[in-house]
Amino acid sequence: MNGPDSGVTGTVTITLDGTNRSLRIPLMPGSIGPSVVDIRKLYNELGVFTFDPGYGGTAACESKITYIDGDEGVLLHRGYPIEELAEHASFLEVAHLLLNGDLPNAAQKADFERGVLRHTMLHEQLRSFFNGFRRDAHPMAVMCGVVGAMSAFYHDSLDINDPDQRRISAFRLIAKVPTVAAWAYKYSIGQPFVYPRNDLGYAENFLYMMNAVPTEPYVVNPILARAMDRILILHADHEQNASTSTVRLAGSTGANPFACIAAGIASLWGPAHGGANEAVLKMLSEIGHVSNIPDFIDRVKDKNSNVRLMGFGHRVYKNYDPRAKIMQRTCHEVLGELGIKDDPLLDLAAELEKIALHDEYFVSRKLYPNVDFYSGIILKAMGIPVSMFTVLFAVARTVGWISQWKEMIEDPSQRIGRPRQVYTGPTQRGFVPLDARG
Ligand code: CMC
Repeated sequence: MNGPDSGVTGTVTITLDGTNRSLRIPLMPGSIGPSVVDIRKLYNELGVFTFDPGYGGTAACESKITYIDGDEGVLLHRGYPIEELAEHASFLEVAHLLLNGDLPNAAQKADFERGVLRHTMLHEQLRSFFNGFRRDAHPMAVMCGVVGAMSAFYHDSLDINDPDQRRISAFRLIAKVPTVAAWAYKYSIGQPFVYPRNDLGYAENFLYMMNAVPTEPYVVNPILARAMDRILILHADHEQNASTSTVRLAGSTGANPFACIAAGIASLWGPAHGGANEAVLKMLSEIGHVSNIPDFIDRVKDKNSNVRLMGFGHRVYKNYDPRAKIMQRTCHEVLGELGIKDDPLLDLAAELEKIALHDEYFVSRKLYPNVDFYSGIILKAMGIPVSMFTVLFAVARTVGWISQWKEMIEDPSQRIGRPRQVYTGPTQRGFVPLDARG
């Protein structure tokens, strides 16, 4: 897992060619993974910035939460492999692990679950927020709005300098975001909102709020509740991805946690990030039949087409995304439980995956299936509408976002995030009056 340069200490010397100026820069080793060149003094000492659009080679923070080895396809949360967590832990145990650093013992687990679950209800006034949206609003739009609006309802937990208030905000967000998500769905289909039930497990309660109606009893299938719990675990955190970095950047200004998580939800929405699970399903239905795959692959490889194989490729993984493997297994379990023997979408996905994994275009670029490739198929089989796929990702990732936000606020070296640029626009010029402009 450790690359050849893992844990290297010492210095790097940068010399500005043609001058006599140079700087010895310390290397910061991580506990695993590549060391990091600490460039904090670079501008003051040498008068230059670094250029790294997309931050492909830049560590923006120090973190103890999640480690990814993209070449080997390894994902660890606080040191625990994702495979073991998905197999043996519950989502709320993983939430405790991410937030507090360790898996809870039995008493801590009960305490944490009680702490989260007693916050599942929304302020009743928040109900009226939903009515302001068009019925056909995308549930992610509703999520951005309502989660942001939570800042206006929970004034007693907005002081980010108070550890107790930070803890309560974390509980509130983890507990209430599923309620917001389920209500966004209920609103879109014109059904009454279903209030949370704190006697149910976290994933079970979410499925209950999504599917129950007041006119008849509803019991959540325990196999589906377990599958949902596992899907949530697989999406819980993923290091410094775009939405997490958005949450950290917003949080670095001192903004309140509800506003920061709303920013994260907005960032997650894009099809290159959390919106990919929805895009995979759209892509599969557009392809329609296995016989159309070669044509589709040709379009993907055509640089002028702007068509991408959704659910494939990752900025960090240059190997199989470990979450995709678990997702694929879970997908077969869920389809088995639901008695779905032949799912045309699954057949299509399997064939697409087979072809792509052998095609030189994908092989040479190390493009493998990511977590989103199979998640849409499972969610669809579970009866979750396509527009809710990214919302589900947001429900799960709220745990990662709030853990990363908390870590940042508690880091004494934390400063406002403020990247620099290389300016390539016009140099200073004089104002030209309107009648003198050509
Ligand atoms: N289909 C076709 N070509 C691709 C794809 C793809 N899905 N992904 C990357 N490439 C090509 C890209 O065109 C480029 O080729 P070339 O070197 O010839 O110009 C090369 O591979 C490198 O791509 P990149 O855009 O520099 O890679 P990136 O690290 O900037 O992008 C990504 C990562 C996830 C945005 C991208 O792989 C992608 O758009 N994938 C499809 C969307 C998707 O599934 N996103 C979910 C990611 S996992 C869940 C999450 O984090 O939210």
